[in-house]
Amino acid sequence: MALPERSPECDNYLAGFGNHFLSEAEKGAVPHGQNSPQKAPLGLYAEQLSGTSFVMARHENLRSWLYRIRPSVLHSPFVRIANQSIRSKPFNEVEATPNQLRWDAFALPEMYEKVDFIDGIKTIAGNGDSASLRGSAVHLYCANSDMSDRFFYNSDGDFLVVPEKGKLKFATEFGIIALAPGEIAVLPRGIKFQVTLPDKSARGYILENYGPSFKLPGLGPIGSNGLANSRDFLAPKAAYEEKLSGEQSFKLTNKFNGNLWQAEISHSPLDVVGWHGTYYPYKYDLSLFNVINTVSFDHPDPSIFTVLTSPSELPGTANVDFVIFPPRWMVAEHTFRPPYYHRNIMSEYMGLIFGVYDAKEEGFVPGGGSLHNTFSAHGPDQATFNKASQDDLKPNYQGNTLAFMFESSLVYAPTKLAMDTSHLQKNYQNCWQGLNSNFSLDKS
Ligand SMILES: [Fe+2]
Repeated sequence: MALPERSPECDNYLAGFGNHFLSEAEKGAVPHGQNSPQKAPLGLYAEQLSGTSFVMARHENLRSWLYRIRPSVLHSPFVRIANQSIRSKPFNEVEATPNQLRWDAFALPEMYEKVDFIDGIKTIAGNGDSASLRGSAVHLYCANSDMSDRFFYNSDGDFLVVPEKGKLKFATEFGIIALAPGEIAVLPRGIKFQVTLPDKSARGYILENYGPSFKLPGLGPIGSNGLANSRDFLAPKAAYEEKLSGEQSFKLTNKFNGNLWQAEISHSPLDVVGWHGTYYPYKYDLSLFNVINTVSFDHPDPSIFTVLTSPSELPGTANVDFVIFPPRWMVAEHTFRPPYYHRNIMSEYMGLIFGVYDAKEEGFVPGGGSLHNTFSAHGPDQATFNKASQDDLKPNYQGNTLAFMFESSLVYAPTKLAMDTSHLQKNYQNCWQGLNSNFSLDKS
């Protein structure tokens, strides 16, 4: 199948994963040859933002220098505000369950109710502890209102945003990221941003990663190319606004140690005129994922579909992986082509961006999700098993599908909201209950 044409919009970004970039919205905003001159250019303030410890190995060191109109310290004291439906450690509202769980899509907010991107976040499940830099949370977002006088940054984790419905525009300290369903964005912790909704409403998923920053997975015997290629990741070019609030101050909301805090701020904090460094937000078009799969027989492990990984301290065991199941050819011979039945030490939250997932033709819907915790058995439903066991195994292009998985080495505890909602399917396990024995010693 043809790749999408390169969009002229790509020119608004800097291409490459993990590069050291330099970008100026005004010529000369970034000082030449040093980071913190006695007087920074253009009367700007120099500020360093570090995403790793100062002494992290050079190839993993993430930090950027920002040259801004006003320094970040210029705000009123933070005060606690309601956490709305965001949850964080300890994830103990309800007990984690070995039962397989599945949810229908959550409804968008009613039009009379104004809900922005931050207020529209609903936590479904989580594990680990943001203060210990281990674990992750699974959130949904359902929003219908722009963040017009409000800015946000997260001290606890990186947001990996997976839109399912409606475009998002992220105005960040580093520049603008325009995001549509089929793309993802990563907003590393500490970076301030504001979200507006070009399509008036939006819905999708967020993986909040408390662990080490996302990396591209190692490719092993695949070689130096394949899966998500570095060249296709896009970081924004510097863009700034010099904007003072009116009579009502802007709000700066911070997720800090699991709670929401808010400060008043008299100016837009998106006032970075130039920056350079290795720590910045980025986006990626999932249609550019180079799928590697069998051309002979059997279904490889789903690790071949890993887009990004946050490692743990144990080599080969992810804190959390982001994995996709994109459009691809299915050509395996004498093979049961859908995912095999399995039980897995890793815990898996799955969502659907569009189309149909090949293990569940019904019940698993765009905007919905499923959770299979550690060693919980799962696999194709009865209808899929029956069909796939009989199918004529011609090469088949599976085009109408884009599912994803957040896969963690820690057990996901669902939130109370996730267990109490009417969107939780009460009969999910029924999809397997007709899988009767076909065992027979009669080989005729
Ligand atoms: Fe699975």
